[in-house]
Amino acid sequence: MEFVERHLKTLDEIRDAISTLAVRGAPAIGVAAAIGLVVSLLPFENEAGVLFRARLQTHAGILGAARPTAVNLPWAMARMSARAGANPVASSAELLTLLREEATNILDEDRAMCESIGAHGLPFIPDGTRVLTHCNAGALATAGIGTALAPVYVAQREGRRVSVFANETRPLLQGSRLTAWELGRAGIPVTILTDGMAASLMRAHEIDVVLVGADRVAANGDTANKIGTYAVAVAAKHHGIPFYVCAPWSTIDRATASGDAIAIEQRSADEVRFAGGTAVAPAGANARNPAFDVTPAGLITGVITDKGVYRAPYSFTYEMRSRD
Ligand code: MRU
Repeated sequence: MEFVERHLKTLDEIRDAISTLAVRGAPAIGVAAAIGLVVSLLPFENEAGVLFRARLQTHAGILGAARPTAVNLPWAMARMSARAGANPVASSAELLTLLREEATNILDEDRAMCESIGAHGLPFIPDGTRVLTHCNAGALATAGIGTALAPVYVAQREGRRVSVFANETRPLLQGSRLTAWELGRAGIPVTILTDGMAASLMRAHEIDVVLVGADRVAANGDTANKIGTYAVAVAAKHHGIPFYVCAPWSTIDRATASGDAIAIEQRSADEVRFAGGTAVAPAGANARNPAFDVTPAGLITGVITDKGVYRAPYSFTYEMRSRD
């Protein structure tokens, strides 16, 4: 495994990095799109205000549509547009300053939300907990310490022993490539499972709790996350194992009533037919590749957010505090 930093400058580069999953994970793509929007507008600093505002909307529309399922992308673009809209007489240069400030806020808030999810999730990770996770909802998916992995990192900081089973997550292997990599670097014991193994480990009493991330949590608690999450939730329910979704407030979509209304990204069948460039299926074999599935709220023990832990029946509201 190699850690490579990519420096993106143009709108096309930023959009492609999101759609090809060079940057992925719901919070990370929201943050990347916000910063990317600013970067893509830098060459136009001296453009007339009205043209610059039209360009801003075009770029935000393109970045916001780079992937359909994670609500963080349109959420971040809406915040950026609103910031510009609230300053109707600002010049292009002034707008760029405001947009840079808003993107920085989104970045900083994401870091803080991760820490807060970690704190709210800590009670579910007593000493010796064996966690199962699916996909990668860690530092590589956010600006901070992750969502599903945040309680794990905080538990480690607190001196608790915690170990993680990481589903490899076919077809793009975010579990084995990313989760195993980042937890290994952090010195947290991690064991990779192929996606079909989790149920039998649950049956053997080897898993204490499931923590997964989310790309969109609907108003009724139905949750879209990486394909395979639903099967893990069904197995956890069957074995009486708590199943928690960990998500920042930016992933809660109160405007979407239920999981039925969530658009599921369909990706190329070649991602299934090939692994790391090597064919793993007969040429031209039919294959499906939905990137996400929906776990119904009834299978979810609770949603751990930065504002607290929510349980059914879900109503995602919170008391405003001065810094919210
Ligand atoms: O296709 P990906 O890799 O972007 O899918 C990511 C996931 O499904 C994550 O679990 C989710 O975005 C939460 S990341 C904190």
